[in-house]
Amino acid sequence: MVMSKVSSEQLAKIRQQFEFQPYPQMPIDYSPKDNANALFIHNLVTPYYLRDRTVIDSSKAVILDAGCGSGSKCLALALANPGAKIVGIDLSTRSVEFARQRMEYHGIENTEFHAMAIEDLPQLGLKFDYINCDEVLYLFPDIADGLRAMKSVLKPQGMIRSNLHSELQRYLYFRAQKLFSRMGLMDGNPEDLEIELAIETLKALKPNVQLRQTLRQSVDGKDRNEWALMNLLFQEDKGYTIPDLFDGLRRAGLEFISMVNWQRWNLMSLFEKPDDLPSFLAMSLPGCSIEQQLHLYELFNAEHRLLDFWCGHPGQAKPKLSLDDWEIADWKATTVHLHPQLNTSEVRESLERSIKQQAPLLITRYLTSSVPEGVNFFVDSTIAATLLPLWDSSQPFTALVDRYLKLKPVDSMTLEPVSVSSAIEQLTLAMHDLESYLYLLLESSD
Ligand SMILES: C[S@@+](CC[C@H](N)C(=O)[O-])C[C@H]1O[C@@H](n2cnc3c(N)ncnc32)[C@H](O)[C@@H]1O
Repeated sequence: MVMSKVSSEQLAKIRQQFEFQPYPQMPIDYSPKDNANALFIHNLVTPYYLRDRTVIDSSKAVILDAGCGSGSKCLALALANPGAKIVGIDLSTRSVEFARQRMEYHGIENTEFHAMAIEDLPQLGLKFDYINCDEVLYLFPDIADGLRAMKSVLKPQGMIRSNLHSELQRYLYFRAQKLFSRMGLMDGNPEDLEIELAIETLKALKPNVQLRQTLRQSVDGKDRNEWALMNLLFQEDKGYTIPDLFDGLRRAGLEFISMVNWQRWNLMSLFEKPDDLPSFLAMSLPGCSIEQQLHLYELFNAEHRLLDFWCGHPGQAKPKLSLDDWEIADWKATTVHLHPQLNTSEVRESLERSIKQQAPLLITRYLTSSVPEGVNFFVDSTIAATLLPLWDSSQPFTALVDRYLKLKPVDSMTLEPVSVSSAIEQLTLAMHDLESYLYLLLESSD
């Protein structure tokens, strides 16, 4: 058993809060099966490709949802990785029971649930390809303890997805929690009476008082209690910064892989003119580590509630060359895959429409979570027709070049035959962008 610094009193407080109200209160019949955006981050193909540029088959994976609550992420993990085994654990017996019922309701069979603490994971005797630990880690007195416990049951190539509340983004909620703690509302387990008192207090404030801003418009809606418990009165909730996160990873002996919404953590995207930065920044930014860049991002713009990240055992990432440095030979030795979450009948139908109407397709309408804000990327109808076979199976890059040449044998301006090199140039240009959003996955055959 991993020795834990968590006091039984702290665990009891957390357990009690979630026994009272398992999280989330999502109706049992809700399914994210048609929500490709929601499934994208839960599909193991996504982080494995980001780390290794390989496309894995997740159907045999063993996945842990650590602190699974009422099972909404267990369901998403199962739907995004059909066939994978899903193991859910949680401190709260009621939450685990809800999670089990949710999976049964949706006909998902390959599952196991246990009411137990993350600290006791080694007792399960299982090793995992992937651990999802969503909205839990910030409750630990020391995040390195939680990370170490998960690391101890992670396979060598495995990955952990976890997250911390941002101290900078959620500062008003942390102040509200301090206030309500002073008022004695968090001494025992906050329930209906404490929720009433907290909301009543905030509503009594003038609109321009800072803490009043924590009141959302839907404060009187049906998710009011859940919102109040998860924000104003959240037991053991804590805020962190990027340096805290990296310090925790170092102490746990884990390596950072990527932010989960990495496209929305791009420091350069914060500047009006990224190519014309003030000279101090222009000189210093290129030498900054990933950790420093992410920290600068949160200092400039603390827009993210969660510091949501993937990590794994050190030294597991496969070396890979930036696509900018690829030679023609690298492209020719590549197999092109469609991201499984883009392989939907809706996207395929739009693609076919674009081909029939010879109109460009705004592909960034789909899987918007993998695209930087404000980016609109169109695929022209010839490229759309070239890529169509990917909706049936992965294709060698060279087969797509042949197909492009059949579709466009003649240059529309010069009426000269299109050369192989020009076809390759057109395809690599489009694929470069599509790969950066992970719509297309490029796997080297050697
Ligand atoms: C905010 S909920 C998140 C539930 C779920 N992961 C989700 O995102 O929908 C936090 C859950 O973590 C569980 N939890 C907190 N600390 C834990 C620990 N040390 N071991 C196991 N479960 C824990 C709680 O009981 C609760 O169900």
